[in-house]
Amino acid sequence: MISFSHVCKRYPGGKDALSDVSFEIHPGELVFLTGHSGAGKSTLLKLIMLMERATSGQVVVNGRNTQRLGRAKVPHHRRHIGVVFQNHQLLFDRTVYDNVALPLQIAGFGLRDTGRRVRAALDKVGLLHKEKHLPIALSGGEQQRVGIARAIVNKPPILLADEPTGNLDPALSAEIMNLFEQFTEVGVTTLIASHDHALIKRMNKRVMALQEGSLVYDDFLPAKEPAQ
Ligand SMILES: Nc1ncnc2c1ncn2[C@@H]1O[C@H](COP(=O)(O)OP(=O)(O)OP(=O)(O)O)[C@@H](O)[C@H]1O
Ligand SMILES: [Mg+2]
Repeated sequence: MISFSHVCKRYPGGKDALSDVSFEIHPGELVFLTGHSGAGKSTLLKLIMLMERATSGQVVVNGRNTQRLGRAKVPHHRRHIGVVFQNHQLLFDRTVYDNVALPLQIAGFGLRDTGRRVRAALDKVGLLHKEKHLPIALSGGEQQRVGIARAIVNKPPILLADEPTGNLDPALSAEIMNLFEQFTEVGVTTLIASHDHALIKRMNKRVMALQEGSLVYDDFLPAKEPAQ
């Protein structure tokens, strides 16, 4: 579903943000991406959604070699990828409904289809009753869930999240993670960049760790020692 083969990314004038990174993520997997600040997590996500291009190596997403995708094909590529940011980037002058409807409007869905899909997405994140609210009237966790509804409203096969729980307390973070887990149960491939080690440990999923641009760990975390 997502495969990196010997990928390097060097920003203009900078050092290597990613060097010789190889991995494969299969359909329906949920994988955490961790590592210190500046390790290359966001860069790796940007290569998948083609916000950046690899300097060398191969990035294959959804069966497509992204190197061969010209600029004109990028919007179509992104339609297959839902993206959740830490600062959720909601439009504060539009209602919850309008925020979630945005990707569908861009993709040219009709009004009726849009309504059906937006309400289904809001229902999934438990915010159907707030569709007419402005984001300012919602809590941080609710705003984050609107961001998630917007990311999944198009039913993308891939979901990327960059520090989706960065601003949330532990209870809300756990709630958001449960949501992601539910999506993977219906086959969505999910990659979540996160600093939150306690949360990652609890989730018991595959973890990829970056260190200064190199992939230094790619496995499930070892099980806890049984209490004596
Ligand atoms: N547009 C850019 N131009 C030049 N250098 C960049 C650019 N974006 C990121 N970098 C550099 O690439 C490296 C990796 O950055 P990246 O944002 O991928 O790290 P990160 O793991 O997401 O960090 P954080 O946890 O702080 O979000 C850093 O050294 C950063 O300074
Ligand atoms: Mg980052």
